[in-house]
Amino acid sequence: MTASPGPIAGGGGRPEPCAAIPAVVLGGTGYVAGELLRLIAAHPRLRVAAVMSDSQPGEPLADAFPHLGAVYGDTSFKPQAEIQELLVSAAQCAVFSAAPHGVSAPLIDSLLTAAASAGKRPRVVDISADFRFRSAAQYEAVYRHPHGAPGRLQEFTCAVPEHLARLETPHVAHPGCFSTATLLASVPLLSLELAVPALFVAGVTGSTGSGRKPVCGTHHPLRHSDLYAYNVLSHRHAPEITACARAASGVEAQFAFVPHSGPFARGIHVTVQAQLARPLDTAGVLAALRRFYAHSPFVRVTGNAPRVKDVATTNYAHLSAASDGRTVAVTCAIDNLNKGAAGGAVQWMNRMFGWPETEGLTAPAAGWT
Ligand SMILES: NC(=O)c1ccc[n+]([C@@H]2O[C@H](COP(=O)([O-])OP(=O)(O)OC[C@H]3O[C@@H](n4cnc5c(N)ncnc54)[C@H](OP(=O)(O)O)[C@@H]3O)[C@@H](O)[C@H]2O)c1
Repeated sequence: MTASPGPIAGGGGRPEPCAAIPAVVLGGTGYVAGELLRLIAAHPRLRVAAVMSDSQPGEPLADAFPHLGAVYGDTSFKPQAEIQELLVSAAQCAVFSAAPHGVSAPLIDSLLTAAASAGKRPRVVDISADFRFRSAAQYEAVYRHPHGAPGRLQEFTCAVPEHLARLETPHVAHPGCFSTATLLASVPLLSLELAVPALFVAGVTGSTGSGRKPVCGTHHPLRHSDLYAYNVLSHRHAPEITACARAASGVEAQFAFVPHSGPFARGIHVTVQAQLARPLDTAGVLAALRRFYAHSPFVRVTGNAPRVKDVATTNYAHLSAASDGRTVAVTCAIDNLNKGAAGGAVQWMNRMFGWPETEGLTAPAAGWT
């Protein structure tokens, strides 16, 4: 594992400056799709070519995303058949899937099969959980339904960009929001052998983490002004975190994960605690984290406690740490929809097309949101 990324093996060459690659977004009316559309609107090398909606084909994007109306006022959602036509005809294409798990894999499979029949090889970043495991059996043990495209699992790598120098597969599975924050905090502890590989993780997420559809238990009126744990030590992301941490660090670690619902809309805050493997004070841990992420433009290691508001709406991650000589605690704040989903996906797509990793992603936080 290394913290300095590079272009992917066999990447399709560097496009001409300012050539805009058509981007396709699946799961079009969802929260993550909305964040993808916001980011792509400001991206110098991507342009939105089509946004698929299963539930609202033909309807204006601006109805689902009024905050994006000034950019996408004339654009409507497309049905799957039109997305397929585009992929069959476009020389290159960047596909982002923000569909739910279980839906994403068969959809991506069908689109890639159609594109391949015309000799086209679009690049895919799947933000759902469908391609996070290497085997269908691992997926099925967690998600309790058959995998939708087991034949494609080896075409995807699941990692945060900061933890993989060279991508060897044509497509990427985004690890997700809780996992991104947990991995950014944990992998240095494991890779540098700073901590005993038994980690205790408390994570707090904002309500957008549960998506657009309000259901009992995740609906914002029930969550605001409240704080509570859920799926304690049994959350579906724990095995995904374990697998990603193993791939990134080479260490088989245990993660005791306790997620919480936070009283805010955007953001994730994670605290990872472990027993130190050797004596190290706070300054030593901070210095190790800074060295580890020295070439990671989106990771900022700070002596101050990371705050969700300082990273909300951005692709940045703020990390800090403390040690009492026996126990180390690393804290991390990210935006769940951006770094934890859409921004991390664009970061990967930048690398897949051989562009600077930061392209279109460096806008600072608004502050006081
Ligand atoms: N929210 C986060 O913070 C976050 C972070 C990391 C990863 N993720 C993952 O990213 C994906 C999108 O998350 P989200 O928060 O944007 O979810 P969401 O708001 O619920 O949106 C998902 C979209 O998928 C589409 N869809 C297609 N078939 C569907 C079906 N059978 N049931 C429900 N929706 C269906 C719908 O759009 P159309 O009807 O327009 O097609 C829906 O709006 C999920 O896989 C999620 O696990 C989310």
